[in-house]
Amino acid sequence: MRTQASPFVVTGPAPAGEVVGRHDVLAALADRAARGRFVLLTAPRRYGKTTLVRRLAADGDATKELAVVIVDLLGVQTLDDVAVRMGHAWSRLPAGPLARAAAKVLPFVSGLDVAGGVVNVALRTPAASDARALEAVLDVPRAVAERLGRRVVVVLDEFQSIAEVARADAIIRSQIQHHAESVSYLFAGSDQSVTEMLFSDRSRPLYGQAERLHLGPFDPDALAAYVEERLGVSGRIITPAALRRYLEVTDGHPQRAMLVADAAWATVDDGGTIDLAELAGAVEDALDRCREEFTSTAGFLTDAQARVSRLVAWGEPLTGAAAGRLRLSSGSARAAGTALVEMGVLVRAERRHAHVDPLLAEWFRRVGPRP
Ligand SMILES: Nc1ncnc2c1ncn2[C@@H]1O[C@H](COP(=O)(O)OP(=O)(O)OP(=O)(O)O)[C@@H](O)[C@H]1O
Ligand SMILES: [Mg+2]
Repeated sequence: MRTQASPFVVTGPAPAGEVVGRHDVLAALADRAARGRFVLLTAPRRYGKTTLVRRLAADGDATKELAVVIVDLLGVQTLDDVAVRMGHAWSRLPAGPLARAAAKVLPFVSGLDVAGGVVNVALRTPAASDARALEAVLDVPRAVAERLGRRVVVVLDEFQSIAEVARADAIIRSQIQHHAESVSYLFAGSDQSVTEMLFSDRSRPLYGQAERLHLGPFDPDALAAYVEERLGVSGRIITPAALRRYLEVTDGHPQRAMLVADAAWATVDDGGTIDLAELAGAVEDALDRCREEFTSTAGFLTDAQARVSRLVAWGEPLTGAAAGRLRLSSGSARAAGTALVEMGVLVRAERRHAHVDPLLAEWFRRVGPRP
């Protein structure tokens, strides 16, 4: 057996050259960015938002049309945190013209201390505004675009984190609205209700400021073609029946699709064939790899939420005979359903609930018999 690494990426963003499908969204993002329009890109967790914006950056680099900088806002708590994250995005760019332009601009941002790629907020006098560093760093993209002679796209990834930081959206809005001629903004977030609220609540400063784009599941044909091809180049064949079953169990979920593909790859050696038995083994392996995560997810759920998760996993409605057998009142089932949607465990489409994660659904089906 040749020792080979699996061709599937299961953690972190996929490399720009390994992106499955998404051509339409990528084209839309590039088009809006080129025209200075702001976009809000939402998707459930691990649906490929960061993968996509990294691909946008790679494409922009190749065509020399856009210069993309990606700011990770996950977990920010204060205005200074936001400023430092933006500073880091500029100071840690891959080597190239954009990084060189940023290196010329960054040391002159008032309120920030920049030394050897590490960015911190400068000490301020008690009288100085706590928004000073953020306001100053928000001017960096304009200055960089000017130097570079190219439009700059600022991606604010995990933008939902901003909701917890008082005045952050107001400061961002007040700075970015004047720069649309040379700078575009792409807001990306996974906590859909929070991210949407920032743009759809009339009382919020960013109300109506961005066009919405939503990232859906993988297109089955694009996914099938990718998986067959990747297995093929690593010496494996998947039978049509196993491929159909694979598409069913992964249900278009990007990270789960890669996880099960990776597990399927490992079931046979170079030259082997993946059939239904191997695929079933791969699903067991994938579930095994998720066990800790699922146990911890379930640990955060209330009893009613866990029962609703189980009902939905079986395709049952929240009220009715099956709900009754699980001793769920319609009031608590509805409340639990709403909470689970807010938590990103379930989605609601066409008046029905469904699991976001097909493997978590499988895990819930194994709690016991069909209710
Ligand atoms: N277009 C894609 N092509 C190939 N794999 C993808 C793609 N999109 C997502 N994936 C898979 O999903 C995983 C998660 O992708 P990524 O980190 O980009 O998602 P995300 O939406 O940014 O997640 P998070 O909400 O955790 O930040 C990747 O490790 C990869 O396995
Ligand atoms: Mg991400």
